[in-house]
Amino acid sequence: MYLDYWGFEKFPFDNVPDPDFFYASEPHKEGLTRLIYAVKRGKGCALLSGDIGCGKTTLSRVFMERILGERLDIGIVSNPCSNSTEFLKDVLYQFGISDAPDTKVNIIHVLQKKLIENMNVGKKTLLIVDEAQLLSDETFEEIRLLLNFQLSDRFLIMIFFVGQPEVFDKIRKNEPLKQRIAIKYSLRPFNLGETKDYILFRQKKAGGNGNLFSEDAIETIYEHSEGLPRKINHLCDLAFFVGFGNKAKMISSGIVEDIIDDGTVF
Ligand SMILES: Nc1ncnc2c1ncn2[C@@H]1O[C@H](COP(=O)(O)OP(=O)(O)O)[C@@H](O)[C@H]1O
Ligand SMILES: [Mg+2]
Repeated sequence: MYLDYWGFEKFPFDNVPDPDFFYASEPHKEGLTRLIYAVKRGKGCALLSGDIGCGKTTLSRVFMERILGERLDIGIVSNPCSNSTEFLKDVLYQFGISDAPDTKVNIIHVLQKKLIENMNVGKKTLLIVDEAQLLSDETFEEIRLLLNFQLSDRFLIMIFFVGQPEVFDKIRKNEPLKQRIAIKYSLRPFNLGETKDYILFRQKKAGGNGNLFSEDAIETIYEHSEGLPRKINHLCDLAFFVGFGNKAKMISSGIVEDIIDDGTVF
């Protein structure tokens, strides 16, 4: 593959939410600060939204790394089922309980017991629900009820919703839940300057020896990707692949335009 040809130790533009490759753009930094604040202050509920591919899952991974020092038990539901009983079973599973009872009432009892156990050993409990726009209205209501587990001065469980912008419309329909959201943040795509910094940053992180993209190539990538990191990665990775095939010395806008015209990327 192209690693040696371009002088990288790792693939610079793999589409995985790897915290090592995290580029702290202004919006990502701000989102991170708010999530960390929410957890440190024991806020009941937070919401991180943004378009597909703008970096929500990556940000939640980085967030987990940053709060490692806190006494926290974290469960992550990444692909929530719309059925509320199945969802609650998944929540238990993510907190390490695999033999969930069948009825909703019993599942909730087991969960409540877990929350109290955590509290007794001085741990906060945090549930992160990724792709939260997939949750049904019924499941949102079930989650709201979970937030009722609280002591006079704090919640027994904190919940972070991560999802596409439609998640707002869903939560808006549930007024009591909406009122529980103490922190919310919408990630925006990168602007041109951030796209450039991002492309430079990832090449460096991958062990590269400087920037291999022309200014024009970066502008074309920005226009086509609309500043969405997942699309930027896809284009840059293909550009290296095609450039390697052509024995190019760097990535020109011609290479990027050919890839776009080919229809290989959306
Ligand atoms: N701030 C960032 N720093 C480095 N890479 C990022 C960043 N944001 C997104 N990415 C990259 O873009 C890809 C898509 O991001 P992801 O977090 O999966 O988006 P979302 O969850 O919003 O759909 C990730 O796999 C990651 O490689
Ligand atoms: Mg995601």
